[in-house]
Amino acid sequence: MSTVLPGQPMRVLSGMRPTGRLHLGHYHGVLKNWVKLQSEYECFFFVADWHALTTHYEDPHIIQESVWDMVVDWLAAGVDPNNATLFIQSRIPAHAELHVLLSMITPLSWLERVPSYKDQQLQMGDRDLSTYGFLGYPLLQSADILIYRAGMVPVGEDQVAHVELTREVARRFNHLYGREPGYEQRAEEAIKKMGKKNAKLYRELRTAYMEQGDREALATARALLERQKNIALGDKERLFGFLEGGGRIILPEPQALLTHAPKMPGLDGRKMSKSYDNVISLREPPAEVEKKLRTMPTDPARVHRTDPGNPDKCPVWDFHLVYSDQEKKDWVQNGCRSAKIGCLECKQPIIDAVLAELKPIQERAAEFSRDTLAVKNIIADGNKRAQEAAEDTLAEVRAAIGLGYNG
Ligand code: TRP
Ligand code: SF4
Repeated sequence: MSTVLPGQPMRVLSGMRPTGRLHLGHYHGVLKNWVKLQSEYECFFFVADWHALTTHYEDPHIIQESVWDMVVDWLAAGVDPNNATLFIQSRIPAHAELHVLLSMITPLSWLERVPSYKDQQLQMGDRDLSTYGFLGYPLLQSADILIYRAGMVPVGEDQVAHVELTREVARRFNHLYGREPGYEQRAEEAIKKMGKKNAKLYRELRTAYMEQGDREALATARALLERQKNIALGDKERLFGFLEGGGRIILPEPQALLTHAPKMPGLDGRKMSKSYDNVISLREPPAEVEKKLRTMPTDPARVHRTDPGNPDKCPVWDFHLVYSDQEKKDWVQNGCRSAKIGCLECKQPIIDAVLAELKPIQERAAEFSRDTLAVKNIIADGNKRAQEAAEDTLAEVRAAIGLGYNG
């Protein structure tokens, strides 16, 4: 496993709350993207069970039931434990320690103004979310991200504000604790360790960024630092921070990686979501899939087979946007508007496409659910790798704050 470097843009981290079976919305919106990312970057994917507890503390059984099902669904969708580290949040207490440390420096107002705080409280009116844990939800997420010094966080639109908060908290942390005595001199010494040529280049790039705000120079200088093999981690952190005129960068700022998937429609035209009861789950038996699609509503104008319709008013059309090529889409548009095709006929290619998509997923899910030991081993292994990476960061964090007394 490669070493963690501050400012390293290559590590990807994301988490999912275990609150029920996964469905096609998760597959198209999240999992397909994870599968792609795992072959391009070093990936950490985890079960956010503590996050689930912030909203489900009164009925935690759903969390317990969903954890292993969710991991099986990940594996079935093609998330590969040889390419990504899969683990469970609550097995890595370092997240909690970083959370408590970050809580010391996070102004209350930063948490109160995160949009999801008030929105979710309103949306989940049936749950009492006026807890300390729920207010801290985004900061716990920041700890999840920063403990691995992740560079990229694949998330949906609704989570961007949480990544933004994470950036602010990281900046504040580095500002408060990255300034050690004799910092400038140490940075100068570290520059020399790069060798004459690289040292000169680093200085030029730094000047270009500091004096002209040249962001390309900043990026080039970061890449230069990442390539350095002969300087120690502490020196590297100093030089990343020095580039921007700050102290050491102990916790690098992550970027949100927005997932640009076409919105997965539900069976009723709204977004697919468990709370709307309009989902096709990844383990839905094929006969059930077929039945759900056959009976889903269409443009109400098509009362009789001979009544023309309008795909824009039909949830089936949204499925064609996800599954059909141009030729098929033209066939729908023309056939629907001229009443040349019937609705069942129009649904058939969707039924075929969804069944074909689910088949290999369900085969793999069946295998993994038979072999629970293998799944537990995958997670045990991932927990261990995550634990090591998290401890590396935590040791630096403790030392930077001045809590490094135990070594
Ligand atoms: N809050 C995220 C969600 O509801 C889950 C999550 C927890 C997460 N920690 C994270 C996502 C860290 C990305 C990174 O979807
Ligand atoms: Fe919907 Fe297709 Fe029927 Fe038109 S023909 S109303 S697009 S199902």
